[in-house]
Amino acid sequence: MRFQLVLMGLVGLALAGGAGAWQLSRIGVHQGYGPQQPIAFPHKVHAGDNKIPCLYCHFGARTSRHAGIPPASVCMDCHSILEKQTVEIEKLKETLQQERPIAWVKVHNLPDFVYFNHSQHVLSGVKCQSCHGPVEHMERVQQVSPLTMGWCLQCHREHAKLAVGDFQRAALSLTQKQKPVAGLDCASCHY
Ligand code: HEC
Ligand code: HEC
Ligand code: HEC
Ligand code: HEC
Ligand code: HEC
Repeated sequence: MRFQLVLMGLVGLALAGGAGAWQLSRIGVHQGYGPQQPIAFPHKVHAGDNKIPCLYCHFGARTSRHAGIPPASVCMDCHSILEKQTVEIEKLKETLQQERPIAWVKVHNLPDFVYFNHSQHVLSGVKCQSCHGPVEHMERVQQVSPLTMGWCLQCHREHAKLAVGDFQRAALSLTQKQKPVAGLDCASCHY
């Protein structure tokens, strides 16, 4: 009897564990996810009210796969000069003094089996906001797009059409180059 109870408990745990693993595997598909951050960094104050360009802080987005989160030294470009002190700015200065990195919580997470590269998109003129929404109005950043395969493909299909149009124009006027096409093959995003 007792053995049966233990066995039932184990089966229950295994089922619960399975469900947990399933949720983790869907981790990239969390529209509306906007976790609390160790420092309440307001995009609205920086990218909105003060019009600091996205690439000032996320400079990696132009040259590499990752947009990246700026190190605290970038924050100090301004906050070592600005006089305003708040509890949150105090936290920033403390972490810097203690020489530890700020433990920002990641908002967007694609599964590992998907290849995504910021520079391929940013250099071809796709705006940050087409994928991340109006971040410059957000107090706390949250995931706006679903990040599903269907979402990627929908935009790629639209751009593939545009690129064909450009190609036809290019055939008539040799001065215009063919634009690179946003891929629809599985191997563009999975390898
Ligand atoms: C002054 C620096 C700064 C500027 C300017 C800035 N950001 Fe950020 N951004 C951060 C920091 C710090 C974080 C990490 C904390 C957070 O998530 O709020 C972040 C996080 C993000 C995230 C979430 C990353 C994740 O974890 O998935 C996105 C998306 C983002 N920024 C987009 C933008 C866009 C788009 C703009 C321009 C409209 C912009 N940022 C301007 C500093 C900046
Ligand atoms: C075509 C869609 C798209 C565009 C355009 C785009 N992003 Fe992203 N961004 C994503 C996706 C998808 C992720 C999640 C990547 C992952 O988990 O590997 C992401 C992640 C991020 C992150 C988290 C850190 C990182 O590098 O993974 C930041 C910060 C960010 N984006 C900022 C920006 C900024 C700033 C711009 C414009 C300069 C921008 N993004 C343009 C889709 C986009
Ligand atoms: C290019 C200049 C610049 C950079 C870089 C910058 N900030 Fe700011 N930040 C400002 C300005 C301007 C304000 C508005 C307050 C003021 O005028 O002093 C502000 C305000 C803040 C506030 C207070 C918001 C409030 O009023 O409650 C926090 C918190 C903050 N910044 C954190 C950061 C962090 C963290 C970073 C680095 C990821 C950073 N800042 C990078 C210019 C900057
Ligand atoms: C808002 C539109 C848009 C969205 C959303 C988008 N892309 Fe793209 N993507 C483009 C465009 C435009 C290009 C063409 C860039 C170039 O080559 O100049 C591109 C190119 C690419 C490329 C390189 C070209 C190729 O096909 O080999 C990869 C890989 C890619 N995207 C992956 C993704 C993934 C993964 C997602 C979803 C997480 C995604 N994209 C979402 C517009 C988008
Ligand atoms: C433009 C990028 C892109 C292309 C092209 C693409 N995928 Fe995906 N794929 C994704 C993304 C992003 C995810 C993860 C999000 C999700 O599950 O919707 C994904 C997830 C998947 C999954 C896992 C589904 C699940 O529910 O966990 C499979 C299987 C898959 N893709 C197969 C394919 C096949 C087969 C092709 C070619 C016909 C293809 N993909 C083309 C971006 C792409």
